[in-house]
Amino acid sequence: MAKILIKDGLLVDTEWQRHQDILIDGSKIVRIAPHIDESDVSPDVNIISADGLCVLPGLIDAHTHYHLVSRGTVTADSFPEGSRLAAFGGVTTVVDFADDNKKSLLSSFEERRREMRSMGIDYALHQGVYAYRSDIKKELEEVRKKGIGTIKIFTTYKNVGYLVEKRDELEEIFKAAKELGIMVSIHCEDDKIITDIDKNWNGTYLPKDHADMRPSEAEAEAIRYVGSIAGELDMPIYIVHLSSAAGLEEVRRLRNKGVHLIVETTPHYLFLDRSKLEGPDGPLYVMTPPLRTKEDNEALQEALLEGEIQVVATDHCSFTKEQKLSSNDCRTIYPGIPGTEEMLPLLHTFAISSGRLSLSQIVNLTSTGPAKAFGLYPTKGTLSEGSDADIVLFNPDYSWTINSDSIHSASGYSAYDGMTVTGKVVMSILRGRIIMGDGIYLGLEGDGQYLKANR
Ligand code: URP
Ligand code: ZN
Ligand code: ZN
Repeated sequence: MAKILIKDGLLVDTEWQRHQDILIDGSKIVRIAPHIDESDVSPDVNIISADGLCVLPGLIDAHTHYHLVSRGTVTADSFPEGSRLAAFGGVTTVVDFADDNKKSLLSSFEERRREMRSMGIDYALHQGVYAYRSDIKKELEEVRKKGIGTIKIFTTYKNVGYLVEKRDELEEIFKAAKELGIMVSIHCEDDKIITDIDKNWNGTYLPKDHADMRPSEAEAEAIRYVGSIAGELDMPIYIVHLSSAAGLEEVRRLRNKGVHLIVETTPHYLFLDRSKLEGPDGPLYVMTPPLRTKEDNEALQEALLEGEIQVVATDHCSFTKEQKLSSNDCRTIYPGIPGTEEMLPLLHTFAISSGRLSLSQIVNLTSTGPAKAFGLYPTKGTLSEGSDADIVLFNPDYSWTINSDSIHSASGYSAYDGMTVTGKVVMSILRGRIIMGDGIYLGLEGDGQYLKANR
C-alpha cells in the first residue's frame, strides 16, 4: 500500500494547531508526531515537504447540487466536473441531494446514488422529502438503512411541487425523522409571503426585483414556523443557507427559547450583496434565497465570528453563463451559482481582514462541523490517527485574484471574479491518493466512495 509522509507543515485541526509530521498508509492517517524520521518508514514512502504550508483535514461541502436536473435543463457541473473543481478548492467530500420522485424515497435515493457513481471525491446524500404520504416513516426507515442521515424540506416552491403544505403532515415527517435519528434540514422561505407579493406585484421582473419578490421577512417567517415545530417536538433542526439579518434574529429568538438549531450559511450570503443583481450580468447572481444587502452580509459575518453559525457550505448549483443569461426575467432565470472551489480562500481572506477568525475555526466550519452534523465524523473532518487520509495543503500567504477563466467550474464564470484573495490550495489528497497537485487534477472518475451517515 502506498505511503505518504508529509513533513514540516503546520497541522490545523479544530481544537489545535501544531508543527508536526503526518504519515499516511493506504487510505488512513496512521501516525502524527513532532518528528517522523524518513528512515523509520519503508523506502517506497512518498515524502512531501509542507514547509511553510498549512495541513488541513479535507473540506466537506455539505450543500451541493452537482448534475441537478431541474426546470427542463441540467446544471453545468457534472459529477466528474464537480469533483474536479472541488479538488482545486480542497474539498474532498460533498453532501449532495437526492430529489424526491414522489414514488418512493428508496427509488429516489437509489437512482441518485447510481448517477453519482462517476464521482471522483467522496460523497454522502441528503434525501429530499417533498410530499407527505401515510407510510412516510417506513420510507424513511428504508433510506436510513441505506445511510441517509438527513432529509431536506422546503417551505416554498409550491409551484414546482416541493412544499409540504399542512402543518400536521410536516409534524408527522419531523416526528418520524426524530424517531429514526434523521436530521431535518430546511430551506426557509415562507411560500405565502412570496406568492402574495407576486400576486400584488406591479413592477418589473428584472434580476434586481428578485431580492424584493423574495424578501428576508419570508426567510424569518419560515424559520419561526419550522422552529416552532422543532421546539414542540424537542428535536434539533438544520437551517440551510441562512441569508439575512432578519432570519438570524429569528434564529436567536428560537435559541433563547431553547430550540436547538444548527445553522449553515454560504460564502455568497457573507460576501456578495444585491447590487450584483443590477446591470446586464445580473442573471449570473440570481439564486434563492436572493442576495441581500450589505447590512445583511455584515450581520452574518458577525454571527460567524461569534460562533452562531455552525457550517459554511456553498449551495453550488452552477449553470453556464449562456443558461443564466438566456433570461432577464427573475421568475425564469435558472437559480443558483457555483462556489465550491472558492469557499476556502474567501473564508481565509475574511479571517485575515476581520482578525477574529482562526484557521482552526475555518476548519470547524467547513470540515469538522459538517462531519459532525452529518454523521461522517471522525472518519472525515479531522486530522487524527485512524481517520481517512483526506488532507489539504494550503498556502496561507499566497495572494491571487479570482478569475472566471482560471477556475474550474464548467459554468464558465465565478461569482467572485476580480476579488483578490489570500490563501490557495496547493494539494488535495483523498484517502491517501493525491487528487490535485501543482494545479493538475489527478482524481479518477468513479473513485469517490459513497458515505453512510453514522448518526
Ligand atoms: O438557487 C438555488 N439555491 N438553487 C439550488 C436549490 C436550492 O434551493 O437550494
Ligand atoms: Zn435551498
Ligand atoms: Zn441548495
